[in-house]
Amino acid sequence: MTTDPKTLPGADLHTGNREVDPVTGYDTTGHEWGGIKELNTPFPKIALVALALAFAYSVVAWILLPTWPLGRDYSRGILGLDQGDIAVERLRDLTDLRADWLARFRDPDFAALAGDNALMATAMPAADRLFQDNCAACHGRSGAGGPDYPNLGDSHWLWGGAPEHIAETLHVGINTDHPDTRWAQMPAFDWMERADRLALSEYVVALPSGTAAHDSAGALLFEENCVACHGERGIGGLLNGAPSLADRAVIYGQDRDSVAKTLARGRQGVMPSWSDRLSEAEINLLALHVARLSQGDSE
Ligand code: HEC
Ligand code: HEC
Repeated sequence: MTTDPKTLPGADLHTGNREVDPVTGYDTTGHEWGGIKELNTPFPKIALVALALAFAYSVVAWILLPTWPLGRDYSRGILGLDQGDIAVERLRDLTDLRADWLARFRDPDFAALAGDNALMATAMPAADRLFQDNCAACHGRSGAGGPDYPNLGDSHWLWGGAPEHIAETLHVGINTDHPDTRWAQMPAFDWMERADRLALSEYVVALPSGTAAHDSAGALLFEENCVACHGERGIGGLLNGAPSLADRAVIYGQDRDSVAKTLARGRQGVMPSWSDRLSEAEINLLALHVARLSQGDSE
C-alpha cells in the first residue's frame, strides 16, 4: 500500500496550504486525527507576561534572599536573612515571656498556685499545649486514654491523683530505668490450669457489675492469688500500681478476652520518666493541669 505524502498530518503546513477554521477564525496546523483538526492558537499573552514576571522576581530573589545551596552552606543574599535565626529569636521572645510566670511553678506549693486565678488563666493554656506536645500521643488529646493507656480524666488513680503524686509519677515514670521508678507488674499466670484461669476470668469479669459470686471457685482462686496486689474482692486502692478490678476504669479491658490475655501473658505498661525532658516547673505545671482534668468526675 502506498501513502501519498500530501495526506500525512502536517502536509498542508509544509506546502504552505493554510486552512482557516470557519468557527474560531484561527489557522489550523494541518494536523488532523480522525476528522478533528488542531487549531494553531497563539500562546496566550498573559501567560507570557506571567513567565516574564516570575523570571524577573527570581532574579531579584537570587540577589536579595538566601537562595543558592553551596555544599554545606547557602548564599545569604544582600538582606542577610536567616530563617533559623528568626525562629530562634521568636522562640527566645516567647520563652522570656513565659519565664516570669513559669518560675513560680518551681515551688510545688500546689494549693497556692491553684488559688492564684490570674496565674492559672495564663498558665493553664500553656499547660494544655505542653500536654498536647508530650502526652496526647499516648493519653489522647483530652487525656481520656484508650486501649493500653489509662484515662487521666477520671477519678481513678493507680498512683494517686493529687498534684504532688502526679508530679512524682512524671518525675520517675512507671516501669522505667529511673532509679526511683514506680514499679508495677501484673505477673503472668500461665502456669495455672486453664480451667482455673477460666474460673478466675469468670469471677473478674463479673466484679464491676457486682454480680460476682464470692463463694465460687474463681473467688477462692482470687483470694489465694490476687488480693495481695488487687485488694479484697479486687477493690484496689493499695497504691501499688494494681488497679481496682471492681470498677470499669481499667487500662486493658474487663471483657473475657482481655482478662484471659492479661492472665495468660501478664501486663507491664511503661510510662516514660520526664525528669530529663521537662523542667521542674513544667512538670509541676503539668501535674496541676492533669489533676484538674479529673475535677468534676464524681464516680
Ligand atoms: C504482684 C502483684 C499482682 C498480682 C499478684 C496480680 N496482679 Fe493483676 N495487676 C497487677 C498490676 C501492677 C496490674 C497493672 C499492670 C499495668 O498497668 O501494666 C495488674 C493488672 C491486672 C488486670 C488488668 C486491669 C486493666 O487495667 O485492664 C487484671 C484483669 C488483673 N490484673 C487480674 C489479676 C488476677 C485475676 C490476679 C490473680 C490471678 C492478679 N491480677 C494478680 C498486679 C498484680
Ligand atoms: C509512651 C506513652 C506515654 C506517654 C508519652 C505519656 N504516658 Fe503517661 N502513662 C502511660 C502508660 C502506659 C501509663 C500506665 C502505666 C501502667 O501500666 O501502670 C501511664 C500512666 C500515667 C499516669 C499515672 C496514672 C495513675 O493512675 O496514677 C500519669 C499521671 C500520666 N501517665 C501522666 C502523663 C503525662 C502528664 C504525660 C506527658 C508529660 C504522659 N503521661 C505521657 C504512657 C504514656
